Amino acid sequence: MANLLVLGMQWGDEGKGKIVDLLTPAFDVVARYQGGHNAGHTVWVGGRKIVLHLIPSGILHPGTLCVIGNGLVVSPAAFFKEVGDLGAQGVSAGPERIALSRGAHLIMPWHPMTERLSEDRRGAKRIGTTCRGIGPAYEDKAARLGIRAGDLADLEVLREKIAEAAAAKDPVFRVCGLPPLDIEAIFREYAGWAEKLGPYLRDVPLLLEERMKLGQNILFEGAQGALLDLDHGTYPYVTSSSSTAGGAATGLGVGPRAIHGVLGITKAYTTRVGSGPFPTELLDETGRTIAKRGDEYGATTGRARRCGWFDAVAVRYACRVNGVDRIALTKPDVLAGFAEVPVCVGYRYKGERLKGFPPEPWVLERVEPEYRVLPGWPESLHGASGPEGLPKAFAEYVRVLEDLVETRVAIVSTGVERAETVFLDGALAGLVDLARVRAAAAA
Ligand code: GDP
Ligand code: IMO
Ligand code: MG
Repeated sequence: MANLLVLGMQWGDEGKGKIVDLLTPAFDVVARYQGGHNAGHTVWVGGRKIVLHLIPSGILHPGTLCVIGNGLVVSPAAFFKEVGDLGAQGVSAGPERIALSRGAHLIMPWHPMTERLSEDRRGAKRIGTTCRGIGPAYEDKAARLGIRAGDLADLEVLREKIAEAAAAKDPVFRVCGLPPLDIEAIFREYAGWAEKLGPYLRDVPLLLEERMKLGQNILFEGAQGALLDLDHGTYPYVTSSSSTAGGAATGLGVGPRAIHGVLGITKAYTTRVGSGPFPTELLDETGRTIAKRGDEYGATTGRARRCGWFDAVAVRYACRVNGVDRIALTKPDVLAGFAEVPVCVGYRYKGERLKGFPPEPWVLERVEPEYRVLPGWPESLHGASGPEGLPKAFAEYVRVLEDLVETRVAIVSTGVERAETVFLDGALAGLVDLARVRAAAAA
């Protein structure tokens, strides 16, 4: 039995959905541990596009149980919209497939409202959030005002909790010129959700313990990316949850020793949505070319993603804070045809070379990236089925990245489909049953 944690190492959208879906056949359970429907994970199966937000990316494999942990914030409306969209595409997402933790916090109608107010107040310094109410729901969790999925089991408790939250929110709304919350209307809406969500609710830490005792394999799924982590990301331009590896233990109720390996996903270049420092950002034609070739538009908000070269300082940092064992490198096919591919190998600040990734965003904003320019590869990567099929210059690019971030690459993704994947020999041995993964990808 081996449990693997899979997470993003940049500012999100690294291709977690593709890699989690690809590896799922080797796992019995896929358990997401943080975030909410701010995430957007695109998975392609046989030319069909499926976009997931809240539901784990293992859902397309009928034999796998998908778990939504206590570390998430859940909008019931968004959840059932996704269940409906999946159903329309022939994917069952009923309670036999999904377990929702009773400890997960609910996104309430006032959360997106307060988020818009706070983004407007910040003006030019806005974070550029997805405006899904994610941040305010986590704020209420920390303020001990949150309403949890388990509270839906008793409607009197639910009514009382909504009234308590309204008593805290209404004075603020009054100052902002907004009407008070309609407690009865909100109660009726959530009482309706209570009935529908009931069958999905589970004691997730207990369920995971039972599954592990049976010797089942669990894939822990991160959303967003390490550089968007509330503690270790580019604060304050981050999301409001622990997307780094530590979040898996708190966000699911498992001990740290339940995690046997960590696979970090990184694009062969860098992207970012929303505001915040981005040292290797390309504001020129090259950036626009990468965006166009990589189809870099957000799966959740449709916003254009900012693009730049691979930042080895940032990814090396992400390897450290997550204890990454192996890397999955995605989207190098997008870079095919560039004569030269620069990689950021260091930062200079006020004339001095920094030791690593600075925790202060105002330092990161002013660093000058130092580049090592590597030869590009004119050949397309599409169709490569093994390491021997990869162009020489690209193999050298991978070798240099491995040296710079001090971590080996185990998987190279060369396209959106499951079969467009190259496994580098033996690199995931003991962590993933690759025979099962390969067989499913080829099917
Ligand atoms: P996630 O949020 O990390 O799951 O990533 P997204 O799904 O938001 O964004 C990644 C995008 O890149 C999706 O549209 C994927 O279909 C696509 N993608 C994933 N891997 C590859 C790859 O190796 N090559 C190309 N060209 N596209 C990829
Ligand atoms: P996946 O899982 C990329 C960004 C937002 C904003 C910041 C805070 O698809 O990789 P939030 O709504 O979370 O409070 O916004 O975080 N952000 C993402 N960027 N991919 C995501 O998810 C993101 N989820 C949040 O753009 O900058
Ligand atoms: Mg995404």
